[in-house]
Amino acid sequence: MLATLKELVTDAKEKKHAIGAFNTPNLETLRGVIKAAEELNVPVIISHAELHEDLIPLDVMGPIMIQAARVAKVPVCVHLDHGTNFDVCLKAMHLGFTSVMYDASTKNFEDNIKETKEIVKVAHALGVSVEAELGYIFNSELGGGEGRGHLSAEDFNSLDDAYTNPDLAKIFVENTNVDALAIAFGTSHGVYLKKPELDLNRILDIKRKIDVPLVMHGASGLSEKEYRIAIENGITKINYFTYMSKAGGNAVVNFIKEADAKEETVFFHDLALIAEKAIKENAKNALMIFNMMKRVDV
Ligand code: 13P
Ligand code: ZN
Repeated sequence: MLATLKELVTDAKEKKHAIGAFNTPNLETLRGVIKAAEELNVPVIISHAELHEDLIPLDVMGPIMIQAARVAKVPVCVHLDHGTNFDVCLKAMHLGFTSVMYDASTKNFEDNIKETKEIVKVAHALGVSVEAELGYIFNSELGGGEGRGHLSAEDFNSLDDAYTNPDLAKIFVENTNVDALAIAFGTSHGVYLKKPELDLNRILDIKRKIDVPLVMHGASGLSEKEYRIAIENGITKINYFTYMSKAGGNAVVNFIKEADAKEETVFFHDLALIAEKAIKENAKNALMIFNMMKRVDV
């Protein structure tokens, strides 16, 4: 059933869980993620990233995502990820998305507040939730890139320049009335080329100042321990994509290698199914951790 971001994160916050938010730029990923949530009977967020417009446009994937959410056996929020302009946010709302992220983190603090506030006004009038971003979430050279360019920790003189400042987060939330805030504390979109050093205490420092649910981006590829500490410290929504997609890719590569060795013909419909299964298992493992269940290795 279709749910808003606000409903899901409020419930997760009470339970000290996090809601998994997965980008679903094709049918296989969409089906894999929803099946994973249904098998575990947990709510889930499916997202269309503006960055993925080249893979599949919002016009095409949006209505499919909404229909999939409506018929799902668990609550599903349909969310726009890293929307960078008013048009794309309004288009998502018009399609029936229950939540949008307006990412003006590339702009200065005042403009980020001003523009986010405008989106919140429109969205709330339509019953749509809004997530915003403050700080710089790194972007790996391999995959990622949802934010500004491909900057990593080494590109900043001080990590304080990149990470979310708790006092500014308070001012930002009070002025914008957002429903969730994406914060920067060392995670990176895309593949981790070296082990990240996360400032997990910063989540606590931010949480002490503001009451809105906090969102961790660039979350796939971290350790189970890091997820659990992040959730305990106050993360309520976890954006997870790259390593799930990589799991689908690896499964396809292995299947092709085996078929080649046996000189068998490879059909695309088989590859799609192989990828979907691997994506489902990867999403299921992530959802078990985010919902604080005991994890089983698959
Ligand atoms: P990863 O692809 O690095 O897991 O990040 C996902 C994300 O933050 C989507 O907004
Ligand atoms: Zn992100």
